[in-house]
Amino acid sequence: MSARVCVVGSVNADLTFTVDRLPRPGQTVLASALDTAPGGKGGNQAVAAARAGAAVQLVAALGTDPAADGLRAHLAANAVGLDGIETVPGPSGSAAILVDAGAENCIVVAPGANAHLSLNSAAVRDVVADSDVVLLSLEIPLETALVAARVGRAAGATVILNASPTPPDISALAAVVDVVVVNETESDAWLDGERALVDHLVITRGARGARHLGGNRTDYPAPAVEAVDTTGAGDVFAGVLAAHWTRGVDYALPRACAAGSLATLVHGAGDCAPYSEAVEDVLDAP
Ligand code: RIB
Repeated sequence: MSARVCVVGSVNADLTFTVDRLPRPGQTVLASALDTAPGGKGGNQAVAAARAGAAVQLVAALGTDPAADGLRAHLAANAVGLDGIETVPGPSGSAAILVDAGAENCIVVAPGANAHLSLNSAAVRDVVADSDVVLLSLEIPLETALVAARVGRAAGATVILNASPTPPDISALAAVVDVVVVNETESDAWLDGERALVDHLVITRGARGARHLGGNRTDYPAPAVEAVDTTGAGDVFAGVLAAHWTRGVDYALPRACAAGSLATLVHGAGDCAPYSEAVEDVLDAP
């Protein structure tokens, strides 16, 4: 049976500039391409989990601007349930993304509606509670993420936090989540020496795959690919991990690593998640 995954996070309209080199402070560079596409860590994770085969609901906030309709349509087209979508007056979230010739990026997010996401509605809290896994990220108010974690835990769900962007203080989050997914460069905050501060710490290591700390330390490799754009790869990793978490770490981690690698072969974030067949093909390859 498919896991029920509730993603609580942001949805953005992404504006992506393709550049040879990321500009230095004060520098102006010309882009060779400009693309608009759906994004936001929550939306990207929800699409990735759905393509991995999970039954997905997204709790997120959209604005009342023209972008909201396109974002809603993209999520619905990817079988993401929209029962937990709140509409707030004003603009939806948006992001300016620069991607360089080496597939690296830098991103600035204007939160828009995401800054107003709350779990004040009992109906929305029910959406969170009606899940096996709750996946959180932090382009939404910290208080909302904390409420979602508590609601999910109280209902018996596993709570996974993709700790991005980096929170100012991790102590409140560490107390209410079961699994943290974090970039290698930001992982120290979640460690006390060699010991993880949560039951499961998953450290993403780019092309080297991921490390799981949870009693033991286990490294999972990522398949080698020629990346063209790493934007959204971390979201795909987290979404696929959430989709498969109930089947065990040794099942979920290889699939998350493979999906994250495949995501870098596609430009843009919202549509870069592979379907489960492609992931299995990679894992089956000799
Ligand atoms: O992780 C990539 C995402 O970060 C983009 O889609 C952008 O919207 C920001 O949320």
